Amino acid sequence: MSTTLASDSLPASGYPMRQWVFEDSAGRYDIDLGDSHIQAGTTSQLRMPDNLELSYGMDRGTPQLIELIAQRYQGDADHIVVTHGAQEALYLLYCTLLRPGDRVLAFRPGWGQASEAPRRLGCQVQIADLRDDFSIDLAALSEIASPGFRLITVNSPGNPTGRRIRERELEMILSLAHRSDAYVIADEEYVLDLSRSIAIDRQRVISVSSLSKMAGLPGLRIGWMYGAPDIVTQCAKYKHLTSVSNSVLCESMAASVLADWPLWARKYEGLTQDGLRQLKQFVLGHETSLRLILPEGTPFAWVHLKTGESSLGFARRVLQQGVLVMPGETLGAPGGFRITFAREPDVLAEGLSRIGQVLRGRS
Ligand SMILES: Cc1ncc(COP(=O)(O)O)c(C=O)c1O
Repeated sequence: MSTTLASDSLPASGYPMRQWVFEDSAGRYDIDLGDSHIQAGTTSQLRMPDNLELSYGMDRGTPQLIELIAQRYQGDADHIVVTHGAQEALYLLYCTLLRPGDRVLAFRPGWGQASEAPRRLGCQVQIADLRDDFSIDLAALSEIASPGFRLITVNSPGNPTGRRIRERELEMILSLAHRSDAYVIADEEYVLDLSRSIAIDRQRVISVSSLSKMAGLPGLRIGWMYGAPDIVTQCAKYKHLTSVSNSVLCESMAASVLADWPLWARKYEGLTQDGLRQLKQFVLGHETSLRLILPEGTPFAWVHLKTGESSLGFARRVLQQGVLVMPGETLGAPGGFRITFAREPDVLAEGLSRIGQVLRGRS
């Protein structure tokens, strides 16, 4: 991986994740270790509302849900807008904060939307490549001395790296943003305890998260943003051009999840602890081919492929065994793959055993 800062207009990914997930692999696997959330929950685990009127909801979200989200930040309700997943929250922020020609900084490997959406809005996207150990190249970052950034997006712990941004790195990013009077989007999809969000008490930092990953409920499509009231209010207005409001049914189920949050957090911790133990053992048994980057709070991990085979080629061979993993090419990082370990133990064991067969060349 390069450690330079390159100003370019390429998306962060060489091969679209959409193509891998929805076209090339669709219907070809029975074990999904390629997504980035814990084992998905089911409606039977949620409280269904009784006789709920299925009208449009409120653009900012229902007051009860907003209050529950605000509690997770130990913040105020006027800082919250509920959205259709974190993805809509991020998109609303890009559309609201950016104008053509604005300079935007994003990191690679990373979530492709952070560079692709601003680029499509006509912005100049500068991509900072992470170092081989996925740390931020502070020297390269400090070379961007010239002010003039409008927006920096950080994702910690990160997808696909699983790495948490360090205090020194955050300070550097915040001071760069301060010099430019820029906004910072904190993509906190993988943060369990949002009372420690980096957006708290920072006027120009906006946090985005959802119930998709840590609760394993991506099908609810419930996300949100937390930020200064004037910014989130602009986003709520823009929502009339996207989804208008969330599904009131999903909002009601989401409220039941957040009302029981300690229970869901325990489920997350149980699944991730057991799964990571299994994954570590597996990688240890295949250490001539694989190297694990220990995750720092994500339900997935990054695994370097030491065999010289392209990660897309390897992921295709794994797919032939009915197992989905996420090849690095989809996230701007060829040379490895992302694998989710927060699964029921027997499902994970079977998935890993099939990957083992591929590594031993028996596929
Ligand atoms: C870093 C990051 N941000 C945002 C999203 C969007 O997720 P959702 O809209 O389901 O909350 C994802 C999904 O993988 C992600 O990994």
